[in-house]
Amino acid sequence: MRWTCLAGLAATLALALAGCNKSGNSSSANSNEIVIGHVASLTGDTATFGVSADEGIRLALEQINSKGGVLGKQVKVITEDDRSLSDEAKTAANKLITRDHVCALLGEIASSRSIAIAPVAEDAKIPMLSPGSTNPKVTQGYQYVFRNCFTDNFQGAAIADFAMKQLGLKQFAILYPANSDYGVGLRDVFKKTVEKNGGQIVDQEAYTEKSDVDFRGQLTKIKNANPQAIFDSGYYTEAGLIAQQARELGITCPILGGDGWDSDQTIKIGGKAIEGCYFSNHYSPDENRQEVKDFVAAYAKKYNGKVPDAMAVLGYDAMKIMADAIQRAGSTDGTKIRDALAATKNFPGVSGSTTIDANHNARKPIVMVKIEDGRFKYAGTVNPE
Ligand code: PHE
Repeated sequence: MRWTCLAGLAATLALALAGCNKSGNSSSANSNEIVIGHVASLTGDTATFGVSADEGIRLALEQINSKGGVLGKQVKVITEDDRSLSDEAKTAANKLITRDHVCALLGEIASSRSIAIAPVAEDAKIPMLSPGSTNPKVTQGYQYVFRNCFTDNFQGAAIADFAMKQLGLKQFAILYPANSDYGVGLRDVFKKTVEKNGGQIVDQEAYTEKSDVDFRGQLTKIKNANPQAIFDSGYYTEAGLIAQQARELGITCPILGGDGWDSDQTIKIGGKAIEGCYFSNHYSPDENRQEVKDFVAAYAKKYNGKVPDAMAVLGYDAMKIMADAIQRAGSTDGTKIRDALAATKNFPGVSGSTTIDANHNARKPIVMVKIEDGRFKYAGTVNPE
C-alpha cells in the first residue's frame, strides 16, 4: 500500500515536471524569479575572459533588480564554469538547461566554445546570446543564437585597414593559432584585406594555442622574411610571450592583434616587449561617451577600483539586452525571447548602440588600442560602413 502510494506520488511529480518542460518555460515561470544561465571560463587558461564577463553581468543584474527586475520578477543568473574547455562548455550549457531550467543563456566569450554550445541551445530552443564571440560561424544557420558584438569579417578588415592606412605599413607576417576558430578566421580576413589593398603577406606561421610556449622557430622564419609588422591572431595567453621572444631575437617591428589580446595579462606577460604594439577592441575606458564614463565608475565602485576590460563591458551589455528582450517578449518562453532578441534596435550599450541584424550579429564601431607606458591607450575608432 505504502509503496503504491509513493509510486503514485512519483508519477504525479514526474508528470508535473514533464509539463513544466513541455511548456518551454523555465521553472521560473511558476516562481518569483527569472533564471538565466551564464557559461563562462571562470578558471583555466583564458580565465580573465569568463571572470570579466561575469563581473559585467553581475553589475548589470544588480542594476536591473534594484529597478524592479524583469516582468515584475527578480532575475537570477547561474554561472557554470567551463574551465576554458569546449567540451566542458557543452556540459555546462546542458546542465543549465536541463537541471536549472534557465530560460536563456549568456556566453560564451571564446568563439570555439560558443561554437560548441550553439547547437545545444538551438536544440533546446533556448536563446543564447554571446557577449564577445566574433567568429562568423557562431551564429551562422541558427535561429536561437545571437551575439551583441561585431564579427571578425569586420574586425580582421579593420585591423588591416588601420595598419595600412593609419600606420602606413605594407608587408606583414602572420602568426596564428591553428587550433582556434577565432585565430584562423581572423587570419583569413586580415590576409584577404591586406592583399586586396595592395599589401603583401611575406610569411605565415602557425602555433598551437594552450600548448606552445616556444615560438622561436616560427619567429626566426618571420625575421628572415623581414616584415614591417607581425599580425598575431591569437589570445592574450600567447601574445605577451610571442612579443618577448620576438624582441629576444632582435625583431623590432610592431606586433598587431585582435580583441583576443584584451587582458591585463598582455601587459603583465609582455612587459616592455609589447610596448608600441596595437590591437583592435570593442571599447576603451578612455572614450568620452557618457555610457562609458558611467560604466567605468560603477564597475570601479563594485570591484575595488578595477578598470573594466572589453569582456566586462560586453557581459554587462549582454545582460541588459537579454533583460530588455525578455521584458518585451512579455514571457520567458524561448521562442518569444528569441523573437524579441531578433528585434533589438538601437539598444544604448556601453560598447555602442546595438542593433541585432538579420544574421543575429551586431554592427558596432571598432576601437584601436596602442600599448604605451604599460597601459592600453585609445588610438582611434573604425566605423562600420
Ligand atoms: N572575440 C574573441 C573570440 O571570439 C573573444 C573575445 C571577446 C576576446 C572580447 C576579448 C574581448 O574568441
